[in-house]
Amino acid sequence: MAIVTDDRTAETTETGGELDTRLDGYVQRAGDAAVALRALDQEAVDRIVKAMTIAGLENAIDLAELAMEETQFGVLEDKVIKNYIATEFLYDYLKDKKSVGIIDEDRERAIQYVAEPIGVVLALLPITNPTSTALFKSIVAAKTRNALIMRPSARAARCAGRAAELLQEAGEAAGLPPNALQVIPDPSLEVSQYLFHHPGVDFIWTTGGPKAVAAANAAGKPCLSVGSGNAPVYLHRSADVSMAVVDILVSKTFDSSVICPAEQTCVIDEPIYDAVIDEFQRMGARLLNDDETRALARKSFGDDGRIEFSVLGQSCSTLAALAGFEVDDADKVLLAPLPTDLDELAAHPFIAEKLMPVLGIVRSPSVEHAIAACELVTEHDGLGHTSAVYATDDSVIDRFALAIRTGRILVNAPTAVGALGGIYNAMPPTFSLGCGTWGGSTTTDNVNYRNLLNIKAVSRRQAPSQWFRVPSDTYFNPGALENLRLLGGRRPMIVTDGPTEARGVADQVRGYLLSDSVHVFSAVEPEPTESQIRAGVQELGRVDADVIIAVGGGSVMDAAKAMRLFHESPELNLHELSLPFLDARKRIASFPQIEHSIRLVAVPTTAGTGSEVSPAAVVSAGNRKVTLVDYSLVPDIAVVDPTLTLSMPQEITADTGIDALTHALEAAVSIFASPYTDAFCMQAVNLILDALPRAYHDGSDLKARSAMANAATIAGLAFSNAFVGLNHALAHAVGARFGIAHGRANAIFLPHVLRYNASLPTKFMPAPGYSAYVAPQKYAQIAWILGIGGSSESDRREQLFDRVQQLLAEVGEPTSLAQLGIARPEFEDSLHALAKTAFTDPSMRTNPRIPLISEIIELLRVGFAG
Ligand SMILES: NC(=O)c1ccc[n+]([C@@H]2O[C@H](COP(=O)([O-])OP(=O)(O)OC[C@H]3O[C@@H](n4cnc5c(N)ncnc54)[C@H](O)[C@@H]3O)[C@@H](O)[C@H]2O)c1
Ligand SMILES: [Fe+2]
Repeated sequence: MAIVTDDRTAETTETGGELDTRLDGYVQRAGDAAVALRALDQEAVDRIVKAMTIAGLENAIDLAELAMEETQFGVLEDKVIKNYIATEFLYDYLKDKKSVGIIDEDRERAIQYVAEPIGVVLALLPITNPTSTALFKSIVAAKTRNALIMRPSARAARCAGRAAELLQEAGEAAGLPPNALQVIPDPSLEVSQYLFHHPGVDFIWTTGGPKAVAAANAAGKPCLSVGSGNAPVYLHRSADVSMAVVDILVSKTFDSSVICPAEQTCVIDEPIYDAVIDEFQRMGARLLNDDETRALARKSFGDDGRIEFSVLGQSCSTLAALAGFEVDDADKVLLAPLPTDLDELAAHPFIAEKLMPVLGIVRSPSVEHAIAACELVTEHDGLGHTSAVYATDDSVIDRFALAIRTGRILVNAPTAVGALGGIYNAMPPTFSLGCGTWGGSTTTDNVNYRNLLNIKAVSRRQAPSQWFRVPSDTYFNPGALENLRLLGGRRPMIVTDGPTEARGVADQVRGYLLSDSVHVFSAVEPEPTESQIRAGVQELGRVDADVIIAVGGGSVMDAAKAMRLFHESPELNLHELSLPFLDARKRIASFPQIEHSIRLVAVPTTAGTGSEVSPAAVVSAGNRKVTLVDYSLVPDIAVVDPTLTLSMPQEITADTGIDALTHALEAAVSIFASPYTDAFCMQAVNLILDALPRAYHDGSDLKARSAMANAATIAGLAFSNAFVGLNHALAHAVGARFGIAHGRANAIFLPHVLRYNASLPTKFMPAPGYSAYVAPQKYAQIAWILGIGGSSESDRREQLFDRVQQLLAEVGEPTSLAQLGIARPEFEDSLHALAKTAFTDPSMRTNPRIPLISEIIELLRVGFAG
């Protein structure tokens, strides 16, 4: 704690070999004790801790006397108080704490925390708090079932040894194993070094000056080292002056200020400076003049800047006598005025830690200056330790707390007694004040039992709950458009594309709307771009629309979803919303969860995308497609009227129908598939296998069109909850790169992806809810339920795949990219980029099998050649 180090070279007749053997003995005995300690249960530990505490408490005065006698400095009464803190306060803090077995449980996260001891702990003790630190570390060691070897400071070995002996005795009577506490009296550096590197020592717990901290940290094993302090205290003009003065006097006189968190330099705001000095003097402090300050500073530090042992913890009169002036015996603290100028302050010897009742005082013209002066003080061996601020103005406290780098920042409380915890605040009681990395420590904690445990996290598997959301109202079958009459809305806006408007569909919709101010925005094109969407957003604002009726294929519906999103939240940007993610629930993109100001009605004219019920919107960005996914995008109402799909030419019928089939087949094997989505997938596949060829061959077959329209929406409901997979990732990448219709791009990869997902993965997708690789069985199950045929599981699966392939052929889908006229060099050039785009596509996140990039390349090649 103090910067005092008093290691000496060994002055014994013992040879090096003999010393090593003796030290090995300590470590060996501690190792045996550690084994026995680990077998203790919580009840036994608590019984032992109580017995040790009582022994410490009963001997608090005797131990304090011994410490006084041996160290020749400090204040007896305060040493007694420190011993109380190290026993009574510590016990009060520890008594209900669990330190054995399961000490903590987070049921919500299904994690249990199990405490284990470290083993053999080597503790270095400071000269400044020799008995209290020995008591503290001994009790904490027992609480954590660690065997403790203490190496006290040379000038305090007897009192520390006595403290350990008393506690071992009392502990042993209550069940503490023999040698759980040992003290090595040898003060030499060689002894410390030997033990630092001893293989039987598991942990080093140092309390000491910078040298001891550095040596312990350099030992190359786990350690917790706490070092010196140099606490600044700031008295702001808003402070309660009389309280602050008494606090500082309590603290600065405590054990003659040998305790490391004690106030060292007090920075006082100009407007209260005189009042503070008067109050200090009234309460028994003595203001030094410049000569006295200089003389005392000269006596206090050696040439190397280290504090002289002769001044350590001495009374004001002794210090004055040493420096050649006189003070009153009753003077409690000597106030040493220090320069306001920061450079001069930095150069003053009294900017250092003063382990004696000498307090530096600085007159400060402003808050900035005061904080800078306090920072300067901490930078002189006080970083990480302790500081204090007296103020009632919270903004000043906040500024101070933000600027000052100390592990403890006490507000309106004395540092010496306050930092130890338990009297002025609720911090854990300690004699080991972590100084953070600034001071060579791994922690800024008030070190206590938790720092002396190995805590194991026993984390049980957690599979997040699943959901099935059907957020939109869906009207279906021929005549469903009639429902638009019920819509209301005073300023509806129809969003559509040119061809659909040209077919008279917008007018048809207008006929059902009651409002006479219906606007039509028909500038959407297939695979809508951001600029088309922005144009739509402007139009929405211009006409102040209150309901959007999106009539068209997926492109129109997706554009309308994005238009509403950017209209309601203009600050959003497409790039951030479409960032890649591993888990949708943890992704960076954050969609506004607000009540919509505009209702969105989706009226599909194709039977494919399911966009009318889905949370997805696919937008072109450059030559990429980005997918926005969030339930806030789902339309409020879906009107699935198959009469609108009658006009689809064969190719669009086929492409959109295959898109719907791909949705169902991907959702069926997704890692988010559930019995709920399975039911929807099954029915969608069932309807499509039967109705798509009929709708394809006879576009006017309303029954087939109805089945397809419903199938597409049903598949949409499935993938709205289970999402899609690899096939869509590939289709998005390739579709955007070569301008291929979405359904067509799906068709090219579908046979290959089915077989890929049905085979044994090279890499499984990490997914707690998907505990067995069931994709192959799921395909077979579809075939079986739909009566497709097959006698074994693999046979059934193959029959399903064959049926799919037959269907693709029947509706004239291409089997390769080459067939679409894409040239091989162009394809090969973009291959790697395509694979990377596909890998990062959000659709990939729910595929059952996580593909290697090389496997994606392979699939792309197969898709190219067929
Ligand atoms: N949001 C989702 O959940 C989701 C799901 C899958 C696909 N998509 C996206 O949807 C888009 C594809 O949508 P799509 O397949 O419906 O095609 P589309 O909307 O791009 O339309 C394709 C063409 O068909 C025309 N068309 C639409 N209906 C017609 C009809 N009844 N008669 C004649 N012509 C008609 C359109 O005018 C257009 O020229 C792609 O961007 C795709 O990525 C979105
Ligand atoms: Fe799709």
